[in-house]
Amino acid sequence: MTRAAVVAGVGSALPPVRVTNADLVARLDTSDEWIRSRTGIRQRFVAPAGTATSDLAVAAGAKALKSAGGHPVDALVVATTTPDRPCPATAPAVADRLGLGHVAAHDVAAVCTGFLYALANAAGLIACGAAEGVLVIGAETFSRILNPADRSTSVIFGDGAGALVLRAGRADEDGALGPFDLGSDGSGRDLITVPAGGSERRPDGSEPPPEDRWFTMQGKQVFRLAVQRMSHSARTVLDRAGWRIGEVDHLVAHQANHRIVARLADELGLPAERAVSNIAEVGNTAAASVPLALDHAHSAGELAAGERLLLTAFGGGLTWGATVLTWPALDRD
Ligand code: UT7
Repeated sequence: MTRAAVVAGVGSALPPVRVTNADLVARLDTSDEWIRSRTGIRQRFVAPAGTATSDLAVAAGAKALKSAGGHPVDALVVATTTPDRPCPATAPAVADRLGLGHVAAHDVAAVCTGFLYALANAAGLIACGAAEGVLVIGAETFSRILNPADRSTSVIFGDGAGALVLRAGRADEDGALGPFDLGSDGSGRDLITVPAGGSERRPDGSEPPPEDRWFTMQGKQVFRLAVQRMSHSARTVLDRAGWRIGEVDHLVAHQANHRIVARLADELGLPAERAVSNIAEVGNTAAASVPLALDHAHSAGELAAGERLLLTAFGGGLTWGATVLTWPALDRD
Protein backbone atom coordinates (compact mmCIF):
# COMPACT_ATOMS: atom_id res chain seq x y z
CA MET A 1 0.00 0.00 0.00
CA THR A 2 1.37 3.49 -0.87
CA ARG A 3 2.43 5.80 1.92
CA ALA A 4 -0.27 8.20 3.03
CA ALA A 5 -0.05 11.44 4.99
CA VAL A 6 -1.86 10.94 8.30
CA VAL A 7 -2.96 13.71 10.69
CA ALA A 8 -1.13 13.28 14.01
CA GLY A 9 -1.68 16.64 15.73
CA VAL A 10 -3.65 19.87 15.56
CA GLY A 11 -3.28 23.34 17.10
CA SER A 12 -4.11 27.01 16.62
CA ALA A 13 -3.37 30.45 18.00
CA LEU A 14 -5.08 33.83 17.99
CA PRO A 15 -3.50 37.19 18.71
CA PRO A 16 -4.58 38.95 21.93
CA VAL A 17 -6.50 41.94 20.56
CA ARG A 18 -10.23 41.25 20.09
CA VAL A 19 -12.03 43.64 17.72
CA THR A 20 -15.82 43.51 17.98
CA ASN A 21 -18.29 44.79 15.41
CA ALA A 22 -19.02 47.65 17.82
CA ASP A 23 -15.32 48.63 17.69
CA LEU A 24 -15.55 48.85 13.90
CA VAL A 25 -18.83 50.77 13.98
CA ALA A 26 -16.98 53.42 16.00
CA ARG A 27 -14.61 54.17 13.11
CA LEU A 28 -16.36 53.03 9.90
CA ASP A 29 -19.68 53.69 8.16
CA THR A 30 -21.08 50.25 9.01
CA SER A 31 -23.36 48.53 11.53
CA ASP A 32 -23.34 45.42 13.68
CA GLU A 33 -26.54 44.34 11.93
CA TRP A 34 -24.97 44.66 8.44
CA ILE A 35 -21.83 42.75 9.41
CA ARG A 36 -23.71 39.96 11.19
CA SER A 37 -26.38 39.48 8.55
CA ARG A 38 -24.06 39.76 5.49
CA THR A 39 -21.07 37.84 6.86
CA GLY A 40 -21.99 36.07 10.14
CA ILE A 41 -19.04 37.73 11.90
CA ARG A 42 -19.32 39.09 15.47
CA GLN A 43 -15.63 39.65 16.23
CA ARG A 44 -12.13 39.02 14.92
CA PHE A 45 -8.63 39.10 16.44
CA VAL A 46 -5.82 41.43 15.43
CA ALA A 47 -2.07 41.17 15.95
CA PRO A 48 -0.75 44.15 17.92
CA ALA A 49 2.31 46.10 16.75
CA GLY A 50 5.37 43.91 17.18
CA THR A 51 3.51 40.65 16.49
CA ALA A 52 4.32 39.17 13.08
CA THR A 53 2.87 36.23 11.14
CA SER A 54 5.76 34.04 12.35
CA ASP A 55 4.78 34.70 16.00
CA LEU A 56 1.29 33.31 15.39
CA ALA A 57 2.74 30.45 13.29
CA VAL A 58 5.17 29.47 16.07
CA ALA A 59 2.38 29.50 18.68
CA ALA A 60 0.03 27.35 16.54
CA GLY A 61 2.88 25.07 15.43
CA ALA A 62 4.02 24.44 19.01
CA LYS A 63 0.49 23.40 20.00
CA ALA A 64 0.18 21.04 17.01
CA LEU A 65 3.55 19.45 17.83
CA LYS A 66 2.45 18.97 21.45
CA SER A 67 -0.84 17.46 20.26
CA ALA A 68 1.20 15.04 18.08
CA GLY A 69 2.98 13.83 21.22
CA GLY A 70 6.38 14.96 20.01
CA HIS A 71 6.21 13.01 16.74
CA PRO A 72 9.37 14.08 14.84
CA VAL A 73 8.96 16.35 11.82
CA ASP A 74 11.57 16.79 9.13
CA ALA A 75 9.76 19.39 7.02
CA LEU A 76 7.69 22.54 7.57
CA VAL A 77 5.29 24.21 5.15
CA VAL A 78 3.79 27.61 5.98
CA ALA A 79 0.82 28.89 3.98
CA THR A 80 0.50 32.66 4.19
CA THR A 81 -0.53 35.75 2.26
CA THR A 82 1.18 37.98 4.80
CA PRO A 83 4.77 36.71 5.21
CA ASP A 84 7.05 38.43 7.72
CA ARG A 85 9.10 39.81 4.80
CA PRO A 86 8.95 39.68 0.96
CA CYS A 87 12.23 37.74 1.20
CA PRO A 88 13.10 35.24 2.63
CA ALA A 89 10.16 32.91 3.25
CA THR A 90 8.65 32.82 6.76
CA ALA A 91 8.92 29.02 7.23
CA PRO A 92 12.70 28.81 7.92
CA ALA A 93 12.38 31.37 10.74
CA VAL A 94 9.44 29.43 12.19
CA ALA A 95 11.40 26.14 12.00
CA ASP A 96 14.35 27.78 13.72
CA ARG A 97 12.21 29.24 16.52
CA LEU A 98 10.43 25.92 17.06
CA GLY A 99 13.81 24.21 17.42
CA LEU A 100 13.14 21.85 14.52
CA GLY A 101 16.77 21.91 13.38
CA HIS A 102 17.80 22.16 9.72
CA VAL A 103 14.55 20.78 8.29
CA ALA A 104 13.15 21.53 4.83
CA ALA A 105 11.07 24.71 5.21
CA HIS A 106 9.22 26.75 2.63
CA ASP A 107 6.15 28.96 2.16
CA VAL A 108 3.12 28.41 -0.03
CA ALA A 109 1.24 31.41 -1.44
CA ALA A 110 -2.31 30.61 -2.54
CA VAL A 111 -4.16 33.21 -0.42
CA CYS A 112 -7.27 31.68 1.22
CA THR A 113 -6.62 28.30 -0.48
CA GLY A 114 -3.06 28.30 0.89
CA PHE A 115 -3.65 25.66 3.55
CA LEU A 116 -5.16 23.18 1.06
CA TYR A 117 -2.17 23.69 -1.28
CA ALA A 118 0.23 23.34 1.68
CA LEU A 119 -1.43 20.09 2.76
CA ALA A 120 -1.07 18.67 -0.77
CA ASN A 121 2.55 19.81 -0.77
CA ALA A 122 3.21 18.12 2.56
CA ALA A 123 1.43 14.94 1.47
CA GLY A 124 3.68 14.93 -1.61
CA LEU A 125 6.82 15.26 0.54
CA ILE A 126 5.68 12.24 2.52
CA ALA A 127 4.61 10.22 -0.54
CA CYS A 128 7.96 10.69 -2.29
CA GLY A 129 9.92 9.78 0.83
CA ALA A 130 11.43 13.25 1.35
CA ALA A 131 9.79 13.51 4.79
CA GLU A 132 8.48 11.25 7.54
CA GLY A 133 6.66 14.04 9.38
CA VAL A 134 5.57 17.49 8.23
CA LEU A 135 4.30 20.45 10.24
CA VAL A 136 1.80 22.36 8.07
CA ILE A 137 0.83 25.84 9.27
CA GLY A 138 -1.61 28.41 7.90
CA ALA A 139 -0.82 31.81 9.44
CA GLU A 140 -1.92 35.35 8.69
CA THR A 141 -1.67 38.91 9.95
CA PHE A 142 -4.18 40.09 7.36
CA SER A 143 -4.79 43.26 9.36
CA ARG A 144 -1.42 44.50 8.07
CA ILE A 145 -2.65 44.70 4.46
CA LEU A 146 -6.23 45.89 5.05
CA ASN A 147 -7.08 49.46 4.08
CA PRO A 148 -8.48 50.84 7.36
CA ALA A 149 -10.84 53.05 5.33
CA ASP A 150 -12.30 50.14 3.29
CA ARG A 151 -15.39 48.95 5.13
CA SER A 152 -16.02 46.11 2.68
CA THR A 153 -12.78 44.30 3.68
CA SER A 154 -12.05 45.67 7.18
CA VAL A 155 -15.13 44.01 8.65
CA ILE A 156 -14.36 40.57 7.20
CA PHE A 157 -10.74 39.65 7.78
CA GLY A 158 -8.91 38.74 10.99
CA ASP A 159 -5.52 37.43 12.09
CA GLY A 160 -4.66 33.96 13.40
CA ALA A 161 -2.90 30.67 12.74
CA GLY A 162 -3.74 26.97 12.65
CA ALA A 163 -1.58 23.90 12.15
CA LEU A 164 -1.62 20.16 11.55
CA VAL A 165 1.19 17.64 12.00
CA LEU A 166 1.22 14.99 9.27
CA ARG A 167 3.14 11.73 9.57
CA ALA A 168 3.82 8.90 7.14
CA GLY A 169 1.24 6.16 7.52
CA ARG A 170 -1.31 4.01 5.72
CA ALA A 171 -4.27 5.13 3.61
CA ASP A 172 -6.69 2.98 5.63
CA GLU A 173 -5.82 4.60 9.00
CA ASP A 174 -8.00 7.25 10.63
CA GLY A 175 -6.39 10.62 9.90
CA ALA A 176 -5.20 9.66 6.40
CA LEU A 177 -5.62 12.43 3.84
CA GLY A 178 -7.48 11.27 0.77
CA PRO A 179 -7.22 12.54 -2.80
CA PHE A 180 -6.87 16.24 -3.61
CA ASP A 181 -8.37 18.53 -6.19
CA LEU A 182 -6.53 21.83 -6.75
CA GLY A 183 -7.12 24.49 -9.39
CA SER A 184 -6.52 28.10 -10.42
CA ASP A 185 -7.74 30.76 -12.83
CA GLY A 186 -5.23 33.59 -13.16
CA SER A 187 -7.56 35.56 -15.40
CA GLY A 188 -9.27 36.51 -12.12
CA ARG A 189 -6.09 37.83 -10.48
CA ASP A 190 -7.47 41.35 -10.15
CA LEU A 191 -10.54 40.25 -8.15
CA ILE A 192 -8.52 39.69 -4.97
CA THR A 193 -5.22 41.55 -4.93
CA VAL A 194 -2.59 43.80 -3.38
CA PRO A 195 -1.41 45.49 -6.59
CA ALA A 196 1.90 47.00 -5.41
CA GLY A 197 4.92 45.54 -3.63
CA GLY A 198 6.02 42.90 -6.17
CA SER A 199 8.04 42.87 -9.41
CA GLU A 200 5.12 44.11 -11.54
CA ARG A 201 5.21 47.49 -9.81
CA ARG A 202 8.85 47.63 -8.81
CA PRO A 203 9.51 51.26 -7.86
CA ASP A 204 11.39 53.05 -10.64
CA GLY A 205 12.19 55.94 -8.37
CA SER A 206 8.52 56.79 -7.84
CA GLU A 207 6.46 55.31 -5.03
CA PRO A 208 3.24 53.45 -5.97
CA PRO A 209 0.05 55.23 -4.96
CA PRO A 210 -0.72 54.37 -1.32
CA GLU A 211 -4.03 52.68 -2.21
CA ASP A 212 -2.14 50.10 -4.35
CA ARG A 213 -0.43 48.82 -1.22
CA TRP A 214 -3.73 47.73 0.29
CA PHE A 215 -5.69 44.53 -0.19
CA THR A 216 -8.77 44.87 -2.43
CA MET A 217 -11.55 42.41 -3.21
CA GLN A 218 -14.48 42.49 -5.65
CA GLY A 219 -16.76 40.87 -3.08
CA LYS A 220 -19.87 40.19 -5.16
CA GLN A 221 -18.05 38.43 -8.02
CA VAL A 222 -15.86 36.54 -5.56
CA PHE A 223 -18.92 35.35 -3.62
CA ARG A 224 -20.45 33.71 -6.69
CA LEU A 225 -17.19 32.16 -7.87
CA ALA A 226 -16.35 30.88 -4.36
CA VAL A 227 -19.57 28.86 -4.19
CA GLN A 228 -19.17 27.54 -7.77
CA ARG A 229 -15.52 26.54 -7.46
CA MET A 230 -15.72 25.01 -3.98
CA SER A 231 -18.78 22.94 -4.84
CA HIS A 232 -17.15 21.66 -8.06
CA SER A 233 -13.87 20.91 -6.28
CA ALA A 234 -15.68 19.19 -3.41
CA ARG A 235 -17.64 16.97 -5.81
CA THR A 236 -14.43 16.11 -7.66
CA VAL A 237 -12.63 14.84 -4.53
CA LEU A 238 -15.70 12.98 -3.33
CA ASP A 239 -15.76 11.19 -6.69
CA ARG A 240 -12.04 10.42 -6.46
CA ALA A 241 -12.43 9.14 -2.89
CA GLY A 242 -15.52 7.09 -3.78
CA TRP A 243 -17.55 8.83 -1.04
CA ARG A 244 -21.19 9.85 -1.38
CA ILE A 245 -22.13 13.29 -0.07
CA GLY A 246 -24.42 11.70 2.51
CA GLU A 247 -21.38 9.96 4.04
CA VAL A 248 -19.70 13.28 4.88
CA ASP A 249 -20.01 14.00 8.61
CA HIS A 250 -18.50 17.51 8.55
CA LEU A 251 -17.86 20.09 5.86
CA VAL A 252 -14.83 22.19 6.84
CA ALA A 253 -14.92 24.99 4.28
CA HIS A 254 -12.86 28.16 4.19
CA GLN A 255 -14.64 30.53 6.58
CA ALA A 256 -15.07 33.26 3.96
CA ASN A 257 -18.60 34.31 4.85
CA HIS A 258 -21.29 32.30 6.62
CA ARG A 259 -23.62 32.85 3.63
CA ILE A 260 -21.01 31.34 1.28
CA VAL A 261 -20.62 28.25 3.47
CA ALA A 262 -24.40 27.89 3.86
CA ARG A 263 -24.90 28.21 0.07
CA LEU A 264 -22.12 25.69 -0.52
CA ALA A 265 -23.65 23.14 1.89
CA ASP A 266 -26.99 23.65 0.20
CA GLU A 267 -25.54 23.15 -3.32
CA LEU A 268 -23.80 19.97 -2.16
CA GLY A 269 -27.01 18.69 -0.58
CA LEU A 270 -25.49 18.62 2.90
CA PRO A 271 -27.55 19.59 5.97
CA ALA A 272 -26.41 23.04 7.22
CA GLU A 273 -25.57 21.66 10.67
CA ARG A 274 -22.83 19.48 9.16
CA ALA A 275 -20.87 22.62 8.20
CA VAL A 276 -18.25 23.48 10.82
CA SER A 277 -18.36 27.20 11.63
CA ASN A 278 -16.19 29.53 13.71
CA ILE A 279 -16.48 32.64 11.52
CA ALA A 280 -18.59 34.47 14.16
CA GLU A 281 -15.64 34.35 16.58
CA VAL A 282 -12.61 34.82 14.29
CA GLY A 283 -13.79 36.27 10.96
CA ASN A 284 -12.12 35.29 7.70
CA THR A 285 -8.49 34.40 8.48
CA ALA A 286 -7.49 33.49 4.90
CA ALA A 287 -4.82 30.72 4.86
CA ALA A 288 -5.34 30.12 8.60
CA SER A 289 -9.08 29.61 8.24
CA VAL A 290 -9.37 25.85 7.57
CA PRO A 291 -6.89 24.69 10.27
CA LEU A 292 -8.35 27.19 12.78
CA ALA A 293 -11.83 25.82 12.09
CA LEU A 294 -10.51 22.26 12.48
CA ASP A 295 -8.79 23.02 15.78
CA HIS A 296 -11.78 24.90 17.20
CA ALA A 297 -14.17 22.09 16.21
CA HIS A 298 -11.78 19.51 17.67
CA SER A 299 -11.40 21.45 20.94
CA ALA A 300 -15.18 21.84 21.19
CA GLY A 301 -15.59 18.07 20.86
CA GLU A 302 -17.44 18.38 17.54
CA LEU A 303 -15.19 15.92 15.68
CA ALA A 304 -15.17 12.22 16.63
CA ALA A 305 -12.52 9.72 15.59
CA GLY A 306 -13.45 8.01 12.33
CA GLU A 307 -15.80 10.76 11.16
CA ARG A 308 -15.51 11.76 7.52
CA LEU A 309 -14.43 15.33 6.78
CA LEU A 310 -14.61 17.26 3.51
CA LEU A 311 -12.19 20.21 3.37
CA THR A 312 -12.46 22.92 0.72
CA ALA A 313 -11.26 26.48 0.14
CA PHE A 314 -11.30 29.27 -2.42
CA GLY A 315 -9.22 32.42 -2.63
CA GLY A 316 -7.09 34.91 -4.52
CA GLY A 317 -5.28 33.83 -7.65
CA LEU A 318 -7.94 32.76 -8.21
CA THR A 319 -7.28 29.42 -6.51
CA TRP A 320 -9.39 26.62 -5.07
CA GLY A 321 -9.04 23.12 -3.72
CA ALA A 322 -10.53 20.28 -1.73
CA THR A 323 -9.53 17.09 0.04
CA VAL A 324 -11.08 14.51 2.36
CA LEU A 325 -9.94 12.72 5.51
CA THR A 326 -11.25 10.66 8.39
CA TRP A 327 -10.63 12.41 11.70
CA PRO A 328 -8.13 10.62 13.96
CA ALA A 329 -8.33 10.07 17.74
CA LEU A 330 -6.41 13.06 19.16
CA ASP A 331 -6.18 14.25 22.77
CA ARG A 332 -7.95 17.47 23.66
CA ASP A 333 -6.34 20.08 25.93
O1 UT7 B 1 -11.54 34.81 1.54
C1 UT7 B 1 -11.35 34.89 0.15
C2 UT7 B 1 -12.63 34.86 -0.55
N1 UT7 B 1 -13.47 35.89 -0.07
C3 UT7 B 1 -14.77 35.75 -0.09
O2 UT7 B 1 -15.21 34.68 -0.46
C4 UT7 B 1 -15.67 36.91 0.27
C5 UT7 B 1 -16.75 37.01 -0.76
N2 UT7 B 1 -17.64 38.13 -0.67
C6 UT7 B 1 -18.41 38.44 0.41
O3 UT7 B 1 -18.31 37.82 1.45
C7 UT7 B 1 -19.45 39.53 0.26
O4 UT7 B 1 -19.54 39.88 -1.09
C8 UT7 B 1 -19.16 40.80 1.10
C9 UT7 B 1 -19.34 40.47 2.57
C10 UT7 B 1 -17.74 41.28 0.83
C11 UT7 B 1 -20.15 41.89 0.72
O5 UT7 B 1 -21.47 41.43 0.91
P1 UT7 B 1 -22.56 41.65 -0.24
O6 UT7 B 1 -23.83 41.16 0.30
O7 UT7 B 1 -22.02 41.01 -1.49
O8 UT7 B 1 -22.61 43.21 -0.35
P2 UT7 B 1 -22.30 44.13 -1.62
O9 UT7 B 1 -20.85 44.15 -1.91
O10 UT7 B 1 -23.26 43.79 -2.71
O11 UT7 B 1 -22.73 45.51 -1.04
C12 UT7 B 1 -24.09 45.80 -0.71
C13 UT7 B 1 -24.13 47.17 -0.10
C14 UT7 B 1 -23.39 48.23 -0.90
O12 UT7 B 1 -24.11 49.43 -0.80
P3 UT7 B 1 -25.06 49.89 -2.01
O13 UT7 B 1 -24.16 50.02 -3.21
O14 UT7 B 1 -26.09 48.80 -2.16
O15 UT7 B 1 -25.60 51.19 -1.51
C15 UT7 B 1 -22.07 48.37 -0.16
O16 UT7 B 1 -21.50 49.65 -0.31
O17 UT7 B 1 -23.50 47.12 1.18
C16 UT7 B 1 -22.52 48.18 1.25
N3 UT7 B 1 -21.45 47.75 2.16
C17 UT7 B 1 -21.54 47.94 3.48
N4 UT7 B 1 -22.48 48.51 4.25
C18 UT7 B 1 -22.26 48.52 5.58
C19 UT7 B 1 -20.30 47.13 1.86
N5 UT7 B 1 -19.60 46.89 2.99
C20 UT7 B 1 -20.35 47.39 4.00
C21 UT7 B 1 -20.19 47.45 5.39
N6 UT7 B 1 -21.15 48.02 6.13
N7 UT7 B 1 -19.10 46.94 6.00
